[in-house]
Amino acid sequence: MPERILIGVAWPYANGPLHLGHLAGAYLPADIFARYHRARGSEVLMVSGSDQHGTPITIRAEQEGVSPQQVVDRYHSQFLDCWERLGISFDLFTTTGTANHAAMAQEIFSALYQKGYIYKDTMLLPYCPTCKRFLADRYIVGTCPVCGYADARGDQCDNCGSTLDPKDLKEPRCRISGDTPDFLESEHFFLKLTAFQEQLLNWVRQQTHWRPSVLNFTTRFLEGGLKDRAVTRDLDWGVPVPIPGYDSKRIYVWFEAVIGYLSASMEHSQAIGKPQYWEKFWKEECRVYNFLGKDNIPFHTIIWPAMLMGYGGLNLPYDVPANEFLTFESQQFSTSRNWGVWVSDYLDRFEPDPLRYYLSANMPETSDSDFSWREYLRRNNDELVATYGNLVHRVLTLTHRHFEGRVPEPQSQDEIGLQLLVKAEEHFVEAGQYLEGCRFRMGITSLMGLAREANRYLDATAPWRLVKEDIFKAASCLWTALTVINCLKTGLYPYLPYSSEKLHKMLGFQDDVRDHGWVWSPNLLPPGQPLGQLEPLFTKLDDSIIERETQRLGV
Ligand code: MF3
Ligand code: ZN
Repeated sequence: MPERILIGVAWPYANGPLHLGHLAGAYLPADIFARYHRARGSEVLMVSGSDQHGTPITIRAEQEGVSPQQVVDRYHSQFLDCWERLGISFDLFTTTGTANHAAMAQEIFSALYQKGYIYKDTMLLPYCPTCKRFLADRYIVGTCPVCGYADARGDQCDNCGSTLDPKDLKEPRCRISGDTPDFLESEHFFLKLTAFQEQLLNWVRQQTHWRPSVLNFTTRFLEGGLKDRAVTRDLDWGVPVPIPGYDSKRIYVWFEAVIGYLSASMEHSQAIGKPQYWEKFWKEECRVYNFLGKDNIPFHTIIWPAMLMGYGGLNLPYDVPANEFLTFESQQFSTSRNWGVWVSDYLDRFEPDPLRYYLSANMPETSDSDFSWREYLRRNNDELVATYGNLVHRVLTLTHRHFEGRVPEPQSQDEIGLQLLVKAEEHFVEAGQYLEGCRFRMGITSLMGLAREANRYLDATAPWRLVKEDIFKAASCLWTALTVINCLKTGLYPYLPYSSEKLHKMLGFQDDVRDHGWVWSPNLLPPGQPLGQLEPLFTKLDDSIIERETQRLGV
């Protein structure tokens, strides 16, 4: 029976450009997973959108002297353009600024309020006497009580990752005026997380398929004891509180952003003219996956599940395969220091697949990993060009030259040819298992291992000699190599969709790889099939690129 898979990818703040860390953390693994499942015939819905509210957006707007909406519009359209050019195949990438989203966020807020899971209370909040306003989240900065970092924000320390309360900051100051805030009472709404402590612990303990890092983090967080959390803020940018008398407050950005998974599913249903379609993913048998970076874990394994438990009737996440961080040339990405690679810049100068390849083969799944231009070149030149591309090139060239550009008829199969076919089967099955378990790095490593096996096979059989000595043996050898290349094409499709489509045409198919499904067998490439035109699959990159790209860095 085909499976149903809902893929919700963390919603990027529309306050700055996407860099490679965003891709490696969430968008690329989500896309690989979506492509794999679509190929398998699963019913897939992949949604996300721009996170357009909260202080990350308003601060940026104030710095630039433009409206928050202008900031959002600019980056939202950049995001869409990046997904398009990089092949991140969302079924819907919307924003949290839609009327549909606001309605859904308010509906959940109201329902939880009515059930007593959201309640009113007062709290002490920093108030800047100069700006004459309460300082929400990122409007207050100070020294981190955990690690001593001087520029920690009211909600979080960017240095050590601790979740903070403004009261905890040492030497707090207003980000705008620089003044020391007073702490005044303000009325807010709180999510009663304490009510879900037991239920969450029981649920989390059953998630033995989660990555150990996610499971351990979540369990420790829960065992440390939950505290109720304010889910409104003193702001005018955001989703209004659906209860009269709170016009100067908005729903906390995190509370409503996670609801985006649901509201976006509904928006997609509307768009395809099947208004109830989302229910298949949220109310029926379906596995829900959330892809995100490790800094977003508690919102997806604790707060959002608690909201869902309180609301009732909707599927909880099945897996939250959070990734660790990607660094750039051994340091953190930094927009302000111009340290990193911006996705749109990259795509202006290079092809999508070499990046997808590098980030997949080096995905920060179990620990942080690094992107460097030198390593990018090495992986492109030594692995894509020299291993995979060269395999394809050697085999297709010989077939064009000596077999009139048609898939040869295998005559007899020798032992090492048979062994290679067995290995192809093994690697293909293994890659499928890795993809199934969201172990994307292992999956691509296994498939590249097969490409190396195939090269060894060519070196051992030397078809360039066989064509002169024994044309029947040459036919068998090239058929074997072609059918293994056909296997790599299918297996690598979720990772390298552009090259796989190209290779598919070179192998003489007229349709698209994605329509062939996740299957491989030696007889999927019919002998006699005329090959398409031969083109290079990948391009060798010159060392001078390292120098050129390095010069773009810094301020
Ligand atoms: N905007 C947040 C970030 O960039 C992620 C929000 S994920 C969501 O860190 F689930 F809340 F939408
Ligand atoms: Zn800190």
